[in-house]
Amino acid sequence: MSHPYLREVLDSFSLDVSEMRAIAARFCDTLERGLAGEACCLKMLPSYIGLPTGRESGVFMTIDMGGSNLRCTKFRLHDGRAEKLSETKHKLVDPQGAYNLISADADADKLFDFIADAVASQLEPGEELPLGNTFSFPCRQEGINEAYLVYWTKEIATRGVEGQNINKLLEAALRRRNVPVHPVAVLNDTVGTLLVALYQYPQADVGSIMGTGQNTCYLEYHHPITGGPMIVNIESGNYDVALPFTAYDRETDRRSNQPGVQLFEKMVAGRYIGDLVRRVLLDLCEHGALFAANPGPARAVLHGDFTALMVERVILEVAYAVELFSCSEADALAAAEAARAVLRRNARLIVSTYLGILFHQEEGEGQEIHREHVIAIDGTIFEKMPGVSAQMEEALWEVLGDAASLIQFRLVKDGSGLGAAIAAAVATHQS
Ligand code: BGC
Repeated sequence: MSHPYLREVLDSFSLDVSEMRAIAARFCDTLERGLAGEACCLKMLPSYIGLPTGRESGVFMTIDMGGSNLRCTKFRLHDGRAEKLSETKHKLVDPQGAYNLISADADADKLFDFIADAVASQLEPGEELPLGNTFSFPCRQEGINEAYLVYWTKEIATRGVEGQNINKLLEAALRRRNVPVHPVAVLNDTVGTLLVALYQYPQADVGSIMGTGQNTCYLEYHHPITGGPMIVNIESGNYDVALPFTAYDRETDRRSNQPGVQLFEKMVAGRYIGDLVRRVLLDLCEHGALFAANPGPARAVLHGDFTALMVERVILEVAYAVELFSCSEADALAAAEAARAVLRRNARLIVSTYLGILFHQEEGEGQEIHREHVIAIDGTIFEKMPGVSAQMEEALWEVLGDAASLIQFRLVKDGSGLGAAIAAAVATHQS
């Protein structure tokens, strides 16, 4: 028999079908208000990118800054095929402590000079290339090559970037360093994921990241700006309407760099999941519902850093949890159960937001699905976290019944790299 407090805590993370339906309906309503230009938590940022033709071609430089890493890749596109010509990866925080480009001690020039040097290292002598920039933060987009950072997310704090035109900062750094590369497109990683998916699945109309951060974009078939199709970056990580927050979620938010924003992201994304599970386990420990026989070592671990990888291992490896917490096998299994309950909520919350988008795209009355949709997803939470993708399927079937067969979740990797090349090709074609 498990401890009653453990049951109580696990229950606080459950979401039944009617709650998922209610979240989907509210998300759909908020999305439609945001799209109509009403100020609300969903920013509904236009990407100025429509449907790619699938025949984009040329050689393109791309950069991808998603969090603490920078990737710089050169692609050749030809006849619907993509070839990776070269790639380098760089840490924005030096493991030896020599530099940290994402803390408040660094400024925009430092960060963008570093990026310009990374780009330069990919160029052949005499080569001059257009560049697509995947910049995975909320940006107010005014055109395919004009995006202003609204605010940093994922706990990044570099000074002098918020409010700025990102590709102008990049262009200035490339000029300072004499690098003959010209930014032509800037896009969100969700948008890149959907662009890549469209090459493989014509029915793809939603792109999502379930990684360090969380966000989703979708294909708006009748965008108010153009009247035609346009990919819209929802910035769903900032969703906050009537969500089932627990005390643990509120504490994670309170302790974050920017309390009060990105509340949905703080409930479900990889950057926060370790902290959330840590708080749950610590609370269970303090209530004697876990590790009661020997709370000291577990308490010490749970006061330290707890990462998404540790959550994954606690779920998958009983021996790891036994050693980590110096506990019995029964306690290790109970800790894994608690972690799984948090992840199950992730899956069900995220699926509820996807359903909100699909209900909008279907343009019907009520919550019905009549067309096929492919939801393209990238990120380690979807790809690697035990049970998550299966729980997402389960949630979909619970809400939609047989209509769930019209919807496919597809892992689409490297949207941020290849997607930036496709966007750059679309942009050079447009101009
Ligand atoms: C950012 C989004 C991004 C997501 C996934 C969030 O923190 O606000 O723009 O798409 O992370 O990388």
